[in-house]
Amino acid sequence: MFKTVVIVGAGNVAYHLTRALLENTVNLVQIFNRTLSKAQLLAENYNISYTDKISEIKKADIYIICTSDDAISEISYYIPFDDCLVVHTSGSTPISALKGKYRKGVFYPLQTFTQGRSLEYDKIPFFIEAENSSDEGALLALAERISEESYLVDYEKRMKIHMAGVWANNFTNHLYLIAEEICKKQEIPFDALKSIIKEGVDKLVDGVSPYDAQTGPARRLDKSVIEKHLSILEATDSKLFQIYNLLTESIIKLYHEKL
Ligand SMILES: NC(=O)c1ccc[n+]([C@@H]2O[C@H](COP(=O)([O-])OP(=O)(O)OC[C@H]3O[C@@H](n4cnc5c(N)ncnc54)[C@H](OP(=O)(O)O)[C@@H]3O)[C@@H](O)[C@H]2O)c1
Repeated sequence: MFKTVVIVGAGNVAYHLTRALLENTVNLVQIFNRTLSKAQLLAENYNISYTDKISEIKKADIYIICTSDDAISEISYYIPFDDCLVVHTSGSTPISALKGKYRKGVFYPLQTFTQGRSLEYDKIPFFIEAENSSDEGALLALAERISEESYLVDYEKRMKIHMAGVWANNFTNHLYLIAEEICKKQEIPFDALKSIIKEGVDKLVDGVSPYDAQTGPARRLDKSVIEKHLSILEATDSKLFQIYNLLTESIIKLYHEKL
């Protein structure tokens, strides 16, 4: 088990991992971040040491890099110790992005993290990879301090799970934004959609499969309704026309391909 932890970064994931680790009495000794004020804002809440200087990075058993994916290689190169484990938290970045003589791993939490939100950390699945089985075991033990769910997966699998998260969360969120814009143009508040959004998610959380949960004109093959929607979009927004058409075709293929 890791006795000491340093978090690298002070963005969304760093904010939540800091809370999750401290709530579960993990010994987080420092936050290192490029922008000192952001490290300070996060660390001072918990009375933890913070720095923006490589020379001041504390010695620890594990360094959890929570920077943007494109910064992982560069920042990992500067970790000034060899006798430690360094992990990143990215879904679609290989372990080989970590540059250094230390042991390497991945500690990927499958969640959408935004600073200031309150989250149930024990429900967040962690996807773990390490170069040796001893570090895999230690990372699983760390994940189990925080969460009820953790998996050992290789890069190929993790990348596909990350992509599933993009479909399930990022794309649906973008569709909510499109729906919000449509409501705005009709001078109806986004609140009017919250009941349908909530029930859509609640059904899935309650165990109804996405296949069974689907409703709507494409599921019913209501061709006249689909044509009306497409003709509105064709006249107003060609990109939305394409998105609506592709999603409709995908649903029709799934439920009605034998017709
Ligand atoms: N957000 C999510 O929902 C989520 C979920 C799971 C995994 N992840 C993964 O977690 C990691 C962090 O994501 P995030 O959403 O927390 O990012 P974020 O909120 O945008 O924070 C980015 C962090 O990276 C630092 N950074 C950016 N460019 C840098 C550079 N060139 N050199 C040094 N530091 C740099 C930033 O420092 P400054 O403060 O100085 O700008 C900041 O601390 C990513 O690998 C992401 O794939 C994210």
